[in-house]
Amino acid sequence: MTSRLDGPQKVTGRAEYGADHNFPGTAHGYLVLSTIAHGEIEAMDVAAAKSAPGVIAVYSPFDPLELHTASSPLFGETAVPMQNREVDYYGQPIGFVVAETFEQARDAAMLVEVSYIARPALTSLEDGLAGAEDAPAARDGAPPSLTVLAEGVESIEDALAVSPVVVEATYTTATQNHAAMEPHSAVALWDADGLTVYSGNQGADLQAAELSSALRVDPSTVRAVNPFVGGAFGGKGRTSAPAFLAAAAARVLDRPVKAALSREQVFTATAGRAATVQTISLGAERDGTLVALRHDSWCSTGIDRSFVEPTSHGTSREWYATRNLAISQKMVPLNVPPTTFMRAPGEAPGSFALESAIDELAIALNMDPIELRRRNNSVAPPGKDLQWSSKHLDECFDVGAQRFGWAERSPDGRTDGDWLVGVGTATAMFPALRFPATVGITLRADDTAVVGTSGADPGTGLLTVLSLVGAESLDLPPERIVPRLGDSTLPAGGLSGGSTATASAGSAIMVAAAKAIDELVALASSPGAPFDGEDVTYADGQVLAGGRAMTFGELLRAVDRPSMTVTGSSAPGEELTKHSFSSFGAQFCEVRVHRWTREARVSRMLGVFDAGRIINDKAARSQIVGGMIWGVSAALHEGLEIEANGRPANGDFASYLLPVNADIPDVGVHFVQYPDTLHNAVGAKGIGEIGTVGMAAAVANAVCNATGIRVRHIPIVIEDLL
Ligand code: MOS
Repeated sequence: MTSRLDGPQKVTGRAEYGADHNFPGTAHGYLVLSTIAHGEIEAMDVAAAKSAPGVIAVYSPFDPLELHTASSPLFGETAVPMQNREVDYYGQPIGFVVAETFEQARDAAMLVEVSYIARPALTSLEDGLAGAEDAPAARDGAPPSLTVLAEGVESIEDALAVSPVVVEATYTTATQNHAAMEPHSAVALWDADGLTVYSGNQGADLQAAELSSALRVDPSTVRAVNPFVGGAFGGKGRTSAPAFLAAAAARVLDRPVKAALSREQVFTATAGRAATVQTISLGAERDGTLVALRHDSWCSTGIDRSFVEPTSHGTSREWYATRNLAISQKMVPLNVPPTTFMRAPGEAPGSFALESAIDELAIALNMDPIELRRRNNSVAPPGKDLQWSSKHLDECFDVGAQRFGWAERSPDGRTDGDWLVGVGTATAMFPALRFPATVGITLRADDTAVVGTSGADPGTGLLTVLSLVGAESLDLPPERIVPRLGDSTLPAGGLSGGSTATASAGSAIMVAAAKAIDELVALASSPGAPFDGEDVTYADGQVLAGGRAMTFGELLRAVDRPSMTVTGSSAPGEELTKHSFSSFGAQFCEVRVHRWTREARVSRMLGVFDAGRIINDKAARSQIVGGMIWGVSAALHEGLEIEANGRPANGDFASYLLPVNADIPDVGVHFVQYPDTLHNAVGAKGIGEIGTVGMAAAVANAVCNATGIRVRHIPIVIEDLL
């Protein structure tokens, strides 16, 4: 039970986020956003803005900043703002006003007059379905459409036709925005060594790579710093418009530039989660055995086709054993803000559809929904012959059912005074992944060890993980570890995303620690050293031989070295040819729907997870609680409503609903712990995203249990339950 090391700084306001960095002479930039969804900018009258008090410069497609296509090893190309006069969505960055103060820049930005040649805009996924395009290959290279059929079966339609029980339905999910507490922002500063950018991001080395390519400068001259990140989960994976613009403006103005999005601007000038339409067909035997599973998905994406929300690939392919499987994944380019990763991309909206459909099948079969899931438990993803390395989903359901009191459930719900009460469940899954990561360890003469990597802690607890895994690997108490993150000058840590950071960085720490210990032992026994020629071992922060011991600090001092530095790297490898890897979980919730007002309130929640080894129980629990609340949010609150003209109708915190404390009951979390060392040496499988997976379906299934009303879209609103 370890409290997060950065907690006190965060809750006392001492944590410095990107925009908290102030330098003498800083100028302030404010973005101008488009007010049409599609067309061409005909002209921009910036005369009034330029002569407004304090204004230093006004940049636009007619007077552009020098920026080029950006790319990074992980993401490939990333869009940079203001490259031409095309407008692809409402709220797109089209101008950047720089002034002496933030207020002056904002005021002047309001004076910019834009004239457009407007073109018809396509902003609704439903309207765009006819123009759907095949998605590119999935993350593991799988094609957009994939069919696996049992021997002798001609087509998925045939498999469904001969299934004794068939459930077929279409589900839709809303566009969402990450709406992180810290709006996207940056402070950029050039000096003789090059550029330094302070900007909340999910991977400092990736951000530095994107900035250096956009600015066409040598990567070694760009330093990206992100010591604290006020929320991310995909929304700060790529470099933001303020960071690109501040960096480019600071270069030409030769002074530091700070830029931050307003809350309303965050909803359009960043990327968010796609809206989806998903059709699911399930065919089963009367005993519940799945015979056929078909999942066809359409997701919205921006005109730049930046991201596909992989609901079919990410979800249906892997969840259940079935003899016949057919999935397809299409994308629908719209005049809406670009789409990107958002916590459990694919799995979050995909599990709403699949796990609602499974519940519908259970009702059609008159079978307990847990029993139905149990009967179709998979030992390997269908169509792949690599078995799961470690899967204890049944145990998650056993433990969860017991703790939640599932046995008391009635198929028709129950009443409690004026409340209709229902319970629901759903499976959760999220693939266990790793990315390449390098970690540096510096043993210091004061007997402390620095464990550092450029990756980020966007609130996930990674900083504390570095300390704990570092301590364990170096056989030291955590107090003697100095963890460092969030600076591209540290060894490349890659992305804090994909629920990978603990497995990726943790494995690299173990490699680095083993190297550090080897080098220390070699140093101790080297000619002239205190254990010259002896058979030295290492334990407890000490080198030992012949009944004598020295701490590593004492040794370093004895040989007159201030420190010793090693790096260790790890990357996914051979394990991928041997097993399939995933975290699993069972979600439970109880929902109360008021008989007269029809408001739905979640009254109990429990999630039981099989996520390998849990490094820090307290932070892990918090991470899962946050994910489960995000799932309730998706189910009952959250959804960006885009008007026909492309303007978000609720792009602010007054009307983009998020759950508040009063919306959320006590959240139960339990881990069944089976370290998965087939996946990585640390045994952790990832907990960042799975907490949200399945929760929206569990809520919808509970609503159905309470009211008999099956709602096939999220968010579920009062009007759905009248
Ligand atoms: Mo995430 S959606 O992997 O930050």
